[in-house]
Amino acid sequence: MGKTSIILDVDTGVDDAFAVLFAALHPDINLLGITCVDGNTNIDQVVANTLKVLDAAGAPEIPVARGAVKPLLGKSQYAEYVHGADGMGDLGIAPSARKVDSRSAVELLRDLIEQSKDPVTIVPLAPLTNIALFLRAFPETAKKVHRIVLMGGSASAGNATAAAEFNIWHDPEAAAIVFQSGVPITMYGLDVFMRPGINREQATQMQNSSNPAAQFGGSLALAFMERLGVSPVTLGDYGAVASVIRPDLFTTEMFDVVVDTSAGPARGQTLVDRRDAFLKELEPLDLEDSAKVRVTLDLDVNGVEQLWLTTINP
Ligand code: BDR
Ligand code: CA
Repeated sequence: MGKTSIILDVDTGVDDAFAVLFAALHPDINLLGITCVDGNTNIDQVVANTLKVLDAAGAPEIPVARGAVKPLLGKSQYAEYVHGADGMGDLGIAPSARKVDSRSAVELLRDLIEQSKDPVTIVPLAPLTNIALFLRAFPETAKKVHRIVLMGGSASAGNATAAAEFNIWHDPEAAAIVFQSGVPITMYGLDVFMRPGINREQATQMQNSSNPAAQFGGSLALAFMERLGVSPVTLGDYGAVASVIRPDLFTTEMFDVVVDTSAGPARGQTLVDRRDAFLKELEPLDLEDSAKVRVTLDLDVNGVEQLWLTTINP
C-alpha cells in the first residue's frame, strides 16, 4: 500500500498528542498539515501543544494553522479536568521554536487539498468547527475531499452528557453541517474509543527508552494515568488515525445518523438508527437532516495497541 495523505484537525489534548505522534511517524502516512481548533483547551494552547508534539516526533516542517476560537454558536467548554491545565498533561515542556502557519485553518485546508496530487482524507479529532467553516467557505474544494474519518459521536452512550460525546456536544451545529455535507464520513466514536490503551509498564518502558518520541509518549501516558488514577489509559483519538491506514483492524457498518442540535437534554447526540432492517423499512428515519454514515463498531484491540507501540518505539 502506498502512502495515505491526511490532514489532522486537533484540539491537542493528551490523546490528540498520541494521534499526532503516530501520524507524524508512521511510514504509510503523508501528514500534509494540521489545523487547530478550540476544544479541550483554548486555541493558543492547542497550537502551542501541537507544535511541541511535532518537536517530540522529530517531524519535518509540517504546516500547523490556527483555527476557530469558539464554536459556531454558544460558548467554549474546556476539558482541563481530563487533559490538565495546559491541555496536555502539564509536562512542563519548553515552547517549540516552530512557527505557526500564517494562513487560517480553512485556508490551509483549501490550499493543501487543492495542491495535493493524491486524494486527501481529513481526520478531525476535535469539535468540527473548522471543518464546517471550510465546507461552507470552499464548497468546490470540499468536493475534492476523499473522505472524513472523525473521532466523535456514539451509537450508544455519551461522555460529556448522558447522550452526547464531547467533540459533537462542543459544537453540534458544526457537526450537523459536516454530517450532511455529502463527503463520505466514517465516525470513530465512543463505541470503540476507550478500548485501545497503554498500561503503566508499557508507558514506563517508553519513558526510559533512548528514543525522544517514545520518551514523550510514555511521559504523557504516565501523567494521564496520574491525573485519572487508572491504568491502562486510552489511546483515544489515535484509534481514528489507525483506522484510516489499517481498516482491516476495524469493523464498520453504514447507518442513518442525525446530529441533535436541539436545546434539550440530547443536544449533541449522534442518533444512530440501529434498528432491525424490517423495522427501518416499516418506519424509515425520515428526518430531512439524516446522513448515511459509516460507524466503527468494533476493533482488534491488541492489533491497534501494538501498531501504536511499534510505530512510536520501533
Ligand atoms: C474526545 O474529546 C477529547 O477530550 C478527546 O481528545 C477526544 O477527541 C473524546 O470525547
Ligand atoms: Ca481530541
